[in-house]
Amino acid sequence: MPTREEIVILAQTALAHAYAPYSKFPVSAVVVAESGRSYVGVNVENGAYPLSRCAEQIAVGAMVAAGERAIREVLILSTSAEPATPCGACRQILAEFAGEDTPVVCRNTAGKERRFKLGELLPAAFRLEDAR
Ligand code: THU
Repeated sequence: MPTREEIVILAQTALAHAYAPYSKFPVSAVVVAESGRSYVGVNVENGAYPLSRCAEQIAVGAMVAAGERAIREVLILSTSAEPATPCGACRQILAEFAGEDTPVVCRNTAGKERRFKLGELLPAAFRLEDAR
């Protein structure tokens, strides 16, 4: 498992690559998978606004593309005074590969952190296996 410092460095490096010309709100996300490997994502916006993608979605996609299916920890880095929490859609996307107790650390570039468990952010998440 990477250290928190290593995860933060990955997120900081990626944050410079965020493509957010419309919102001007860069976000990066690091997903640490079961193997201990980290996968990074940034928000990738689009001139057709609804096609924009959040950092968490890109990080989860990178993890899945690498052949992994289980998230151990998530860190989201933003520049706002209050660290940004994942949007509703991203909470659901994280829940596909993470458990209720998976830590989600929301951090800003000043170093302020808000720590959650995914189950706090998305109680009673929809899971297809439970819904069948
Ligand atoms: N955004 C993320 O990428 N992740 C979050 O957790 C919060 C919001 C992005 C979406 C959009 O590109 C910009 O931040 C402003 O909403």
